[in-house]
Amino acid sequence: MFAVHLMAFYFTKLKEDQIKKVDRFLYHMRLSDETLLDIMARFQAEMQKGLGKDTNPTASVKMLPTFVRAIPDGSENGEFLSLDLGGSKFRVLKVQVSEEGKRNVQMESQFYPTPNEIIRGNGTELFEYVADCLADFMKTKELMQKKLPLGLTFSFPCKQTKLEEGILLSWTKKFKARGVQGTDVVSSLTNAMKRHQDLDVDILALVNDTVGTMMTCAYDDPYCEVGVIIGTGTNACYMEDMSNIDLVEGDEGRMCVNTEWGAFGDDGALEDIRTEFDRELDLGSLNPGKQLFEKMISGLYLGELVRLILLKMAKAGLLFGGEKSSALHIKGKIETRHVAAMERYKEGLANTREILTDLGLEPSDADCIAVQHVCTIVSFRSANLCAAALAAILTRLRENKKLVRLRTTVGVDGTLYKIHPQYPKRLHKVVRKLVPNCDVRFLLSESGSTKGAAMVTAVASRLQAQRKQIDKVLALFRLTQEQLVGIRNKMRVEFEYGLKKDTHPLATVKMLPTYVCGMPDGTEKGKFLALDLGGTNFRVLLVKIRSGRRSVRMYNKIFAIPLEIMQGTGEELFDHIVQCIADFLDYMGLKGAQLPLGFTFSFPCRQASIDKGTLIEWTKGFKATDCEGEDVVDMLREAIKRRNEFDLDIVAVVNDTVGTMMTCGYEDSNCEVGLIAGTGSNMCYMEEMRNIELVEGDEGKMCINTEWGGFGDNGCLDDIHTQYDKEVDEGSLNPGKQRYEKMTSGMYLGEIVRQILIDLTKQGLLFRGQISERLRTRGIFETKFLSQIESDRLALLQVRRILQQLGLDSTCEDSIVVKEVCGAVSRRAAQLYGAGLAAIVEKRREDQGLEHMRITVGVDGTLYKLHPHFSRILRETVKELAPQCDVMFMLSEDGSGKGAALITAVAKRLQQAQREH
Ligand code: BG6
Ligand code: BG6
Ligand code: GLC
Ligand code: GLC
Repeated sequence: MFAVHLMAFYFTKLKEDQIKKVDRFLYHMRLSDETLLDIMARFQAEMQKGLGKDTNPTASVKMLPTFVRAIPDGSENGEFLSLDLGGSKFRVLKVQVSEEGKRNVQMESQFYPTPNEIIRGNGTELFEYVADCLADFMKTKELMQKKLPLGLTFSFPCKQTKLEEGILLSWTKKFKARGVQGTDVVSSLTNAMKRHQDLDVDILALVNDTVGTMMTCAYDDPYCEVGVIIGTGTNACYMEDMSNIDLVEGDEGRMCVNTEWGAFGDDGALEDIRTEFDRELDLGSLNPGKQLFEKMISGLYLGELVRLILLKMAKAGLLFGGEKSSALHIKGKIETRHVAAMERYKEGLANTREILTDLGLEPSDADCIAVQHVCTIVSFRSANLCAAALAAILTRLRENKKLVRLRTTVGVDGTLYKIHPQYPKRLHKVVRKLVPNCDVRFLLSESGSTKGAAMVTAVASRLQAQRKQIDKVLALFRLTQEQLVGIRNKMRVEFEYGLKKDTHPLATVKMLPTYVCGMPDGTEKGKFLALDLGGTNFRVLLVKIRSGRRSVRMYNKIFAIPLEIMQGTGEELFDHIVQCIADFLDYMGLKGAQLPLGFTFSFPCRQASIDKGTLIEWTKGFKATDCEGEDVVDMLREAIKRRNEFDLDIVAVVNDTVGTMMTCGYEDSNCEVGLIAGTGSNMCYMEEMRNIELVEGDEGKMCINTEWGGFGDNGCLDDIHTQYDKEVDEGSLNPGKQRYEKMTSGMYLGEIVRQILIDLTKQGLLFRGQISERLRTRGIFETKFLSQIESDRLALLQVRRILQQLGLDSTCEDSIVVKEVCGAVSRRAAQLYGAGLAAIVEKRREDQGLEHMRITVGVDGTLYKLHPHFSRILRETVKELAPQCDVMFMLSEDGSGKGAALITAVAKRLQQAQREH
């Protein structure tokens, strides 16, 4: 009994002595709580530095955006391939995610060796090898005929600008293949796969092992927002607020950031805690000066650190009686698995003896105890350092969320963490001590990073499928050059039909004579009233024209026309107009003055003279009864009579295109075309009298109001008419009419967009599949909103805000899609306008027998004026489709009212001249 006690005493004493000895020797490796808190603070600062745009280039902790935005929500499904390269083992896998809606993942995998000559040879050969392994796997699993998406777990620092790309920043750990750094790993692998013709694989995602681990764990625990690897290498990722990631546009939501914490200290930030052993180890590594934090922590280095220490202690006579074996001199002879074995609770000492003996040493009991303690100090330091950096991340998460206490889960993987008997316990304990205000659950990733990588791939593949569906819809709005030429030619045919007596009655482009025959010559003068009805605003104007100097002064007032009047009876409409005139005269102090009046009436009218215009049919948003087939000048006169307060001399009725052409023609006599791209769509131009069969006489020219809005009403545009155009048409006031106008003008573009959005939402591609009341509301996308959404100056967030104003609760992704939809619709409109305009300028050029022609087009309308890209695309299209014409666009600054007054002035002058004769 006594002997046993004596033995125990002897052993305890021995142990104490040895531990003291080692403690003294490795004093510098033991980190106090204070030091750990200090390291934690340093790492917090490093993270901040890595996230900042200006500071990132010089930051050693790179904080790489991963383009993984959400943790799995359980809706992921499908069959995927996965490669897992960069850890201790290289694997190829097939992952089957949740077929029948239940959270269920099945994996089949195969390990492949990674010989040094491959991972440290030529880059091309490395990727060819990887592709060969993949092909082999697919053959054995009989997957060759399937086209499967692939997720690549690649455990090295990669700079990503999207999920399916990764520029390798530097090799770490055991890899050092030539010619890969600075290149995109995904395209290299894709190229390597091309050698296998029967391989049809699409790499959809590249993920770091930390990210894969976090996603694997998050699939089971939605609280998981951090991924840590303590294996061959060490690293962590976590979900960061987008608003803190300067390197990626957008402020919405979160994105996973791969910290690459292994490089912490590469700028010298940890010199005070590095020891001579760390420096020696670094010098002998594949990447000296790099990954200094990793080299104090991870599995690839722990054993080596122990070896260097033992060697030094032996040399100093503190171990093995000063004897060293040749094996102890060989780099890599002690591995992490040895360290783990030596630290085993019960068998540890026996294991130590065995391992040391295998190294050719003859350890005493004391040596075994001492060596075991060396291992403890080295692995404890590793856990402490990891804990400090992890504590910094947890604190950051807590602060981002502005919480007093954070409840969170950390997903962990890596051989060191898994095989070392004490490591997890120690790590957890220290983390909890460093961040007492965080309730942390550590979750071991049982199935590696690949399960998580498959989740990321599943999301990417769903997005890719959605993208395809969206592209399919948008493609309907893309017009080829050939199609545009076809449209130009058809428009040209319609012009001829409308001008010819025989074909005119059935023509859809009506080509209405306007009886406006000349341009103002500058001798016009006087005071005129003008009305401007049919665009966005109804205006009454007073226009004072002074002769000689071509100067015009205008006073105007905008009046509202309530919907019930636009769509009430004709009498109500004209009474309302006269009421507005009365108000205006009152306002201007002109009551009783009998002024000549020009009436801009922006609807198709059949004219027999300049002051007569029979409304053919309403277009756009008007539908007052008893007007179609009536002379609008008569209706206005009668309304004035009914009111019996004042009299007016109605001299001219003018379409807005004609007014616009005149307004511009007053400045530039070369202006022979008037174009409106506003609520409605129309064009007028000066035609040779001899071509106008409906009007007597062959001399000179007359302005023709084409009313091209009706182009296509005979079905000649059916090939480009989409289901959305049909829906807009059916919901309009004039179904079947004004087809071209409905594809091009402001009043309808927003409606087309709305129809597309409804369809995309129904397909589950937008607004989480929810069609809101607002989206069902006709007319919510006015031209001005369309124009704002498409502005290049707007950040995504602002687009989102506009959509929110419209009552559409959109995510960032939704906003991108809405913007694209708007772009596709407005682009088609501008191109269609271009085709129409090219038809007219070409006609004019040919009619005049000119090789080359210069012409000015006067333009007005909210679409042209407000939209950021419309006018440019229009110009480009005309240039392409009418290359022999030099078309100048002149924006009408003063509206059609001025032109109407000028026409009135000319008509008045002619009237007087006739009277005098
Ligand atoms: C595994 C991953 O689970 O963990 C690997 O699938 C990863 O890709 C690894 O690199 C980290 O551990 P180790 O010890 O293999 O480097
Ligand atoms: C204006 C005219 O300048 O342009 C209006 O004065 C015309 O009468 C308009 O209808 C076209 O633009 P919108 O966008 O108002 O229909
Ligand atoms: C290295 C790599 C890193 C990886 C880690 C763990 O640090 O640079 O990308 O996550 O090892 O495998
Ligand atoms: C509608 C009208 C037309 C007008 C155009 C632009 O197309 O029918 O007369 O010019 O809108 O306002």
